[in-house]
Amino acid sequence: MEEKKLQKLLEDMSLQEKIEQLVQLNGLFFGSSEQLTGPAAAFRLSEGQAYRTGSVLGEHGAARLKKLQDRMMAEQPHHIPALFMADVIHGYRTAFPVPIAIGSSFNPSLARRIAEAAAREAAAAGLHVTFSPMADLVHDSRWGRCMESPGEDPWLNARIVENMVRGFQGEDVSEKGRVASCVKHFAAYGAAQAGRDYNVTELSEHTLFEDYLPAYRAAVEAGACLVMTAFNTIDRRPCTTSRRLLRDLLRGDMGFEGVVITDYSAIKETISHGTSEDERDAARQAMLAGCDIDMMTSCYLHELEPLIRDGRVPESLLDEAVLRVLKLKNVLGLFEHPYKDASEEDEQQLLFCPEHQALSREAAEETIVLLKNEGVLPLSPDRKIVVIGSLAEDRAIVGSWAVFADRSQTVTLREALETLYPEADVTFFASDAITEDMLSAAAEADTVLLALGENETWTGESRSIADISLPASQKKLFDAVRAAARKTVTLLFGGRPLAVPEIAQQTDALIEVWLPGSCGCCALADILFGKVNPSGRLSMSMPWHTGQLPISYAAFQTGRPKPETDRFVPFVSNYMDVPNRPLYPFGFGLSYSEVTYGPVCLNTDTLTSGGSLQAEAVIENKGPLPVKEAVQLYIRDLHGSVVRPVRELKGLEKICLAPGERRTVRFTVTEEMLRFYDADMHFVSEPGAFRLWIGHDSLTENGADFRLE
Ligand code: BGC
Repeated sequence: MEEKKLQKLLEDMSLQEKIEQLVQLNGLFFGSSEQLTGPAAAFRLSEGQAYRTGSVLGEHGAARLKKLQDRMMAEQPHHIPALFMADVIHGYRTAFPVPIAIGSSFNPSLARRIAEAAAREAAAAGLHVTFSPMADLVHDSRWGRCMESPGEDPWLNARIVENMVRGFQGEDVSEKGRVASCVKHFAAYGAAQAGRDYNVTELSEHTLFEDYLPAYRAAVEAGACLVMTAFNTIDRRPCTTSRRLLRDLLRGDMGFEGVVITDYSAIKETISHGTSEDERDAARQAMLAGCDIDMMTSCYLHELEPLIRDGRVPESLLDEAVLRVLKLKNVLGLFEHPYKDASEEDEQQLLFCPEHQALSREAAEETIVLLKNEGVLPLSPDRKIVVIGSLAEDRAIVGSWAVFADRSQTVTLREALETLYPEADVTFFASDAITEDMLSAAAEADTVLLALGENETWTGESRSIADISLPASQKKLFDAVRAAARKTVTLLFGGRPLAVPEIAQQTDALIEVWLPGSCGCCALADILFGKVNPSGRLSMSMPWHTGQLPISYAAFQTGRPKPETDRFVPFVSNYMDVPNRPLYPFGFGLSYSEVTYGPVCLNTDTLTSGGSLQAEAVIENKGPLPVKEAVQLYIRDLHGSVVRPVRELKGLEKICLAPGERRTVRFTVTEEMLRFYDADMHFVSEPGAFRLWIGHDSLTENGADFRLE
């Protein structure tokens, strides 16, 4: 539809109709019964009113949504099509590894392909919008939603989420197989204090701007059609009613022109925060702040009309919000094709199709991280292997936000090993209960695989934990098996980095599997048997202990830095009981190959504003297998007018090297890459000395110095 027709449509709509466009309800309101009971009564909806709202949350399936669309368009006075939105976070029917794992691929183009596949399935199932990507940076693995974040680094998160937005939306979101992307949760939800979900945040302006905002900004610049507000407060203001955040920063500074939707019931929750008196006050504040769609409260539905009539909310603000919603419908092509891509035939063809299963497996090949290997992996099929732990047969390993994935289709570790390596001598004890049989089998085996960690019910929204070590029962299981077995390989499942220092020390090999999705265990089996060379890297530091949280490699130097030792040193900044460094650092991950880095060479040691500098290193695969190597560029500003991180990721290239292959990897460094917020919050670079490193992980010492003039 031409844009000026949208304006005409808006002018023709009644106040009530306009308000209804801003209301989003979930499937409970669209049951077959017409009786006004249950949620409809609680929301005080009038007859048929749910069907006149502008968008629906969580309903899915081509047949269902076509029918619902017909009904909603019939009820809506101007026959405006509804928007169907849902959480397709890491896949629709085919589940891909969870986002923290996707971050650990260190491969942004893989993130894009995953989003494309997820969009194809979701679009066929009638969806128009996905509430993804989650761009929230996280430094604290007590927070259950680590699982949904690409990780701890502003630069890496930005690259992952911008690729996801492009993958979901393509060049033109009205095209077949595309869905609109809603980046969330604006802003800094991942900074929930003490890792407790929904908690407040306490951030400096610098931390907000330099660490937390870049990934949302990257998603907006990549064209994300929607932004979702966050549950938390920033600077003592709930994000959902923060004018500064939504109007000044998001719309003003970042130039976002799309739709702002609240998180689930977030407008009403400002009453609990104690910043709104009642629903009317909450609706007023949210509208003034710039929230367009009210997800799952009746605040807008009942309160906007009196607020507008009383002149407490200008009708022009309502019109702007409604126009944005209409524009989104138009960009998706819904006025011409209200079902968009909903198709039962396409669902048959696309959902969990072999191509998407293959991508789920390929993704896990790149997201699983090998952390330790003392000559025990890859396994040789002629050895006797015992697999222990309930997670070996658990199907709940796809991740809690793959809401539409069919768990019965998840390939378990046991199934993967039995199907892909039938010749191997593998015995299973898929239980966490220690038995004599288990221990005697462990004693007779050449290698024991121990599946430990969390299944999907342990991580995700509201699943915060105070202690990130393993539960006592799993520690006991590890100790008993370790004492009995010759060699152990520990497989850590889960959605967050756990603290496992004793296990890391005692096990012969350690693998961070994450929650690997529908077919991820096939990739795990291939990694175990050496068919696939692991290439994942930690996108979050793995601490020794909960007490180190929050933790990030991009820390700041104190006035009393710790000397190069893990021992306690009095009167410098350190702990008496654990080192400052993590157990495994950001960017770390092993392969079965020896990959070497030659020294960093610069084409000049002086960078000028407007100019550029080339930094390169020769990377060589000295092993007998092909390898994927995530080559990382870090930079440190040695002296700033404000303290600067000890290093920051500024570049990445994931390359494939054949056995014996050498490749020069070159990064271009420009003055823009050196900018930061100075004491007056100006985004500037400062002339002076810098160091850069090209290496395997965030602890690399392969560096060179240069100056900015
Ligand atoms: C979550 C969002 C999600 C929304 C809709 C909320 O509880 O915080 O991330 O998109 O529900 O399901």
